[in-house]
Amino acid sequence: DTSQLVDSFGRIATDLRVSLIDKCNLRCTYCMPAEGLAWLKRAELLDTEEILRLIGIAVERLGVRNVRFTGGEPLLRKDLVEIIARTSRLPSGPRTSLTTNGINLGSYADDLRRSGLDRVNVSLDSLDENTFRELTRRDRFHDVIAGLEAARAAGLEPVKVNAVLMRGRNEHEACDLLRFCLERGYHLRFIEQMPLDAQHGWDRAAMITADEILDLLGTEFTLTPHAAERGSAPAERWLVDGGPGTVGVIGSVTRPFCAACDRTRLTADGQLRSCLFSTEETDLRGPMRAGAEDEELIRLWQDTMWAKAAGHGVDGAGFARPARPMSAIGG
Ligand code: GTP
Ligand code: 5AD
Ligand code: SF4
Repeated sequence: DTSQLVDSFGRIATDLRVSLIDKCNLRCTYCMPAEGLAWLKRAELLDTEEILRLIGIAVERLGVRNVRFTGGEPLLRKDLVEIIARTSRLPSGPRTSLTTNGINLGSYADDLRRSGLDRVNVSLDSLDENTFRELTRRDRFHDVIAGLEAARAAGLEPVKVNAVLMRGRNEHEACDLLRFCLERGYHLRFIEQMPLDAQHGWDRAAMITADEILDLLGTEFTLTPHAAERGSAPAERWLVDGGPGTVGVIGSVTRPFCAACDRTRLTADGQLRSCLFSTEETDLRGPMRAGAEDEELIRLWQDTMWAKAAGHGVDGAGFARPARPMSAIGG
């Protein structure tokens, strides 16, 4: 008995992003302030069984095929391996992936692979130890590099690397980052900075645009459009120097991909979102804790997705930011 998550524009959500925790062990300047944020309390977070119940409904009743775990930093969640193991054992066999800052991947990669995790995306904005420390406010560069290697060795492939370029901070590292990833077989994607930081410091003029990223890379590499069908992927991909290496650009602001979006989102405190930029959320935790049947949760989920907006309009007039920052929404 499977229905689907359809919106009023005919898009079908088959990709669920689950934020497992809002806490993080880095303090990336484009994400949160040095002092951290008012973290969710334990009782506010969904517990293991609640998360697995909702994932089960999405996968077995609502047509979701891909489940991505995000944070904050999902490796800070003690039950992560169990959640992944039980998700990948669901009868419909969803694909599973993890978006992480990579810090504890060195110790977790093998367990994650054994639990059935398919692949990981790791953030890395600089190859310079000092710049890394300035951008993340923590001295963990070598842990991330070790985490990336451990992920590949464990077979969590393709290993994707996410990099946000910032004017005057790390933009000069664009080509170095690409060379580093090509040499190691990681799939690098550059991401335009989005206005989702907790401290409201985003500045449109300071953002390095997709056009600029391509120009920077063009100084040392020849990029040609990748032939593969893009589908609903946020990254536009390019072959580097004729291939086989590639690079991706996620132009969320200047090249939005909302028209092809296939995503639905669940926050760590049990709120549904139809979009990263939604200004409204639907509470599933309350009904669940009050004893709601699956059918009621399914109806709430379908209604939420039906109301999904056509696009986010970040780059237009009248854009309204969501109330919560990215670390609480789940990138
Ligand atoms: P795959 O391509 O399947 O590996 O996943 P992904 O690139 O969507 O996942 P990841 O978590 O690595 O996110 C990469 C970047 O894309 C982050 O900056 C996300 O915030 C951004 N992103 C993810 N989903 C959306 C979305 O729905 N809209 C926009 N604008 N950006 C998104
Ligand atoms: N804009 C763009 N990307 C961001 N990320 C975190 N905050 C922002 C932002 N404001 C990135 C992280 C991670 C991914 C989930 O999103 O670096 O790679
Ligand atoms: Fe942590 Fe990710 Fe935010 Fe950096 S961007 S502080 S790694 S949640």
